[in-house]
Amino acid sequence: MRGIQITEYVKGPSELTVTTIPDPTPSPTQYLISIQASATNFFDILQISNKNQNQPPLPFLSGDEFSGIILSVPSSISAPKFRVGDRVFGASQGGYATKICVSEASLRPVPEGWSFSGAAGLFITAPTAYGGLVTRAGIKEGDWVLVHAAAGGVGLAAVQIAKAFGATVIATAGTARKFEVAKSYGADHLIDYNDATWPAKVKALTPNGRGVDIVFDPVGLIDLSTKCTRWNGRLVVVGFAAGNIERLPLNKVLLKNISVLGVHWGAYRIHEPEVIDGVWEGIFKLIREGKFRGTVFTDREFVGLEKVPEALESLSRRGTWGKVVVKVPQEGQTKL
Ligand SMILES: NC(=O)c1ccc[n+]([C@@H]2O[C@H](COP(=O)([O-])OP(=O)(O)OC[C@H]3O[C@@H](n4cnc5c(N)ncnc54)[C@H](OP(=O)(O)O)[C@@H]3O)[C@@H](O)[C@H]2O)c1
Repeated sequence: MRGIQITEYVKGPSELTVTTIPDPTPSPTQYLISIQASATNFFDILQISNKNQNQPPLPFLSGDEFSGIILSVPSSISAPKFRVGDRVFGASQGGYATKICVSEASLRPVPEGWSFSGAAGLFITAPTAYGGLVTRAGIKEGDWVLVHAAAGGVGLAAVQIAKAFGATVIATAGTARKFEVAKSYGADHLIDYNDATWPAKVKALTPNGRGVDIVFDPVGLIDLSTKCTRWNGRLVVVGFAAGNIERLPLNKVLLKNISVLGVHWGAYRIHEPEVIDGVWEGIFKLIREGKFRGTVFTDREFVGLEKVPEALESLSRRGTWGKVVVKVPQEGQTKL
């Protein structure tokens, strides 16, 4: 098969190369999958240069999120959930390759009518947004929700989920193109958070200037967001895309009677696995109802594993929106 193997750490994506390596052998509990599309994540960039929190031992195959077709089912599972030929998406180390071996817990079926590209970027963003807004913050109809970095991967998922639950969404972003995208996914109000007065502007949009009920924050803007959060509001800590881990003076939490909630979707598998299927059922219901669609970045197309470096560099330059996905034609296949 072909893949991006890391034998020694690199400085950045431009140093990545695609090589031919032996096909992986699935363990008795794993499926073998032919990858059709790989989705990029910022942590892929950290991992190739030894900067991620959890590093696999060298050598390793780079990448994580993917979609593809089942080539073989686990030999030790009597009633496997998927069959040979099924279309699936998931996440596991080695997503930048033409084949991957994955356990059942890391796979979901590609929703009916969805492309491989659309499904490739679903495994992390959708449940993170659903877990944050629904499981953690208890979103309900009529809520006002502030979604930061609304045109990013998790941001666009959060906009759609908040709208599906009957909320009014105030979206922040940094460029006109990203406003356009957030609006096209349902955001009601758009605020440029490069303008330092954004908290006052958010507050002014809400009924009687009371502030928002929920803040969904993948950027690191919790402290400033307390200025436009209402009494009893909930602020969901999703990530720190701006690069700094925030500190928050707790008097603000007390004075406004607010709750600051974390969401760490990947760790549900360890601490609360019983929640996972319910979250996915909720997401698939929204998809069936036409309330949640794929968020693939379409301003440019990336075809072939050789385009992974370019895709990762575009992602790191902050010029993309949604999920940046690379189509992965199989050997001998010229088109997808
Ligand atoms: N808690 C969890 O379980 C979980 C799961 C998935 C992801 N995350 C985290 O959530 C964050 C967002 O993930 P994502 O997949 O949505 O990423 P993404 O698609 O790259 O979007 C991040 C957005 O953050 C905004 N941003 C603001 N300041 C930035 C800066 N200094 N550098 C880069 N971007 C900046 C950008 O939007 P503008 O250009 O409009 O500002 C960008 O579109 C990451 O920190 C990720 O690690 C957490």
